[in-house]
Amino acid sequence: MSGEKISSNEAIDAALHLDGDPDHVKQFYEDWAKTYNIDTTGSEYTGPAIAANLLQQHLTNKNSELLDAGCGTGLVGVELQALGYSNLDGFDLSDSMVELAAATGAYRQVLGSIDMMRAAESYAAASYDAILSVGVFTLGHVPPEALQVLLKLTRAGGLLVISTRTHYYDQTNFQQVVDDLTSSKQAELIQLIKDAPYNNDGDGHYWVLRKTG
Ligand SMILES: C[S@@+](CC[C@H](N)C(=O)[O-])C[C@H]1O[C@@H](n2cnc3c(N)ncnc32)[C@H](O)[C@@H]1O
Repeated sequence: MSGEKISSNEAIDAALHLDGDPDHVKQFYEDWAKTYNIDTTGSEYTGPAIAANLLQQHLTNKNSELLDAGCGTGLVGVELQALGYSNLDGFDLSDSMVELAAATGAYRQVLGSIDMMRAAESYAAASYDAILSVGVFTLGHVPPEALQVLLKLTRAGGLLVISTRTHYYDQTNFQQVVDDLTSSKQAELIQLIKDAPYNNDGDGHYWVLRKTG
């Protein structure tokens, strides 16, 4: 990956230059956890609020079982709790991030040291009504194929709500992975908001997929 500057915030820029190796990503976030909320709030990070509101448009039952994949410090959980959702679990690679997520009180259960690509080893198939993943499908973090893993954990008729940074979408095969899931009728794309606010470095896309079957 090029060393070109992506973000004016030093920590966010370093995150976007990670190499996707789960050990490296985990260590990076263990170190960043304490100041993550300050850095992201300072960058006008709107991803969690937009994703939570999108979910509410499509899933009105507040007792639905939700999973926040790559929950970090719990910013998505806080938004979902404010909207009245109460059955929310979360996982993340980083234990320090997850500790902060647990401290928000927004989650029923949070697990650390979980790699999204191997999440099916820790969660039963078809066990959530909706899975959200915000800020994780981003450069240097997870490959687009992680979408397939999250879909497996989703119940038939359930939802995936995903953000993609614009440069991640442009530089990966994310669209191809979505096309494969829809053309094979495993999922249906029910909403896509392109070039919506994400943070003060640039825009993001927000995807809502429904698992078929
Ligand atoms: C930019 S933060 C986003 C956190 C949170 N969702 C938010 O919106 O604030 C990215 C998070 O993804 C997690 N992450 C990155 N790669 C991961 C992987 N392979 N499996 C699980 N979590 C991962 C990181 O540890 C970090 O907490």
